[in-house]
Amino acid sequence: MISEYCQNDVKHVVPDIDGTAEQQEAMTSLFHQFNVTTASARTIVKQFMEEMGKGLDHEGATLPMIPSFVTGRPTGSEKGKYLALDLGGTNLRVCEFELKGDGEFSVHQQKYVVAQELKTGEMRHLCDFIADCVDNFITEYGTHHISEKIQLGFTFSFPVNQTDINRGTLMHWTKGFNCNNAINKDVVIMLQDSFLRKNISVNIAALVNDTVGTLMANAYSHPQTSMGIILGTGTNAAYYEKLSNITKWRGGDQVFEEMVVNMEWGAFDLERRVLPMTMYDNKVDRESINPRQQLFEKLISGMYLGEVVRNAVIHLIDQLILFNGESSTGLNEQWGFETAYMSTIVVDETPELEKIRHILEDTLQVPSTTFGDRQLVKSICIAVGRRAARLSACGVAAVLAHTGELEAGANVAIDGSVYEFFPKFQTYLTETLDELFGQEVAQGIKFTLARDGSGFGAAMIAMMAHKAALAKAEK
Ligand code: BGC
Repeated sequence: MISEYCQNDVKHVVPDIDGTAEQQEAMTSLFHQFNVTTASARTIVKQFMEEMGKGLDHEGATLPMIPSFVTGRPTGSEKGKYLALDLGGTNLRVCEFELKGDGEFSVHQQKYVVAQELKTGEMRHLCDFIADCVDNFITEYGTHHISEKIQLGFTFSFPVNQTDINRGTLMHWTKGFNCNNAINKDVVIMLQDSFLRKNISVNIAALVNDTVGTLMANAYSHPQTSMGIILGTGTNAAYYEKLSNITKWRGGDQVFEEMVVNMEWGAFDLERRVLPMTMYDNKVDRESINPRQQLFEKLISGMYLGEVVRNAVIHLIDQLILFNGESSTGLNEQWGFETAYMSTIVVDETPELEKIRHILEDTLQVPSTTFGDRQLVKSICIAVGRRAARLSACGVAAVLAHTGELEAGANVAIDGSVYEFFPKFQTYLTETLDELFGQEVAQGIKFTLARDGSGFGAAMIAMMAHKAALAKAEK
């Protein structure tokens, strides 16, 4: 249990600003609002573990803990050519993988931009667009033989109530998607229908969440990987769970010991019991397309972090603490402050904070900024990013404490822009784990960047599912 590991609470120090007294005061207040103290991290982990237990036990819990129907671990000897389709991050990606059977593979891929109208229009139109992209990919880049039915792994990174390896109904949309006529429908049937109507010879052999794909992809080269995490546009995690712990499982008498569970951890604490929500987060949530949902995700993932910073900055402008009280059209717009700016701002060590000045004055057209203004904006970005890392660490801590892997050490595969690009994200993660469990345990938890792993994982799962289907048909 986590209480066995109690360390001393660590004091976090407020950064100094060379600006006005009001700016220093504002920073102190914001720092405390965005800080996740060691004590509150511990409370969050405890709550997380309770919610995990409920989600494994029954449907309708806050954490859905969805059985993925992926039971085996890859061996690295898998072979064959498979397509993968990845929807749910910034772009739609279509990839063809050739698994070579010796832990090696080759890939070629193409990205397609999903227009905003498609993200919030009719589901049928989105499926038709995806089918057209796959068709274009096969024609332009594919190496499959024309007569073969191509097997595809579909990474659909939204909460899906999975009912088989290639079946699942959409529970709700996240990350700014909101297509009509999709909720409670089987997303595989809808997309397969578009392939059929367009005479595209593709079979969707597996429906895969990106976290599950990331876990499997990393396990191909590091079989002991036990967890896959996405910290990108959205956030979520998957891990291997003992079947005996998935007490809600009614899958009949299949013989296997463990199954990958897609936690959908972005939904954690929608009751707001333990998450340290500030007024800036409340505003992000209220103005989002899915208010009161995915609160954990809204504190952590790339879709929202810039917007949290923007809300804090605007609030300071309104109090005349920043930019002499003057904002700009760009900064006043919802989503006007991109999360990507945060990384550039945080690494700016130039004497006059020139890069920060460029973003604020040239890109966002703020009339003028002082050195103190720029320092304050930088500190806000650090505080918001650091909070995201500390909260992510709470999720990791809960899973590893639950599976009992803390002492033995664990391999965690992570993908996503926030993890990859936010400066010191991994340091903050490990620091928090250190506060929770002590240095020895924290250092035994290894994070590997599994860049673009989900497509590869989906192709591999499609392969496993296709082979299993063939074997079943032969019986
Ligand atoms: C979705 C998850 C997904 C995560 C990362 C969340 O918004 O609900 O299914 O794994 O984003 O892409």
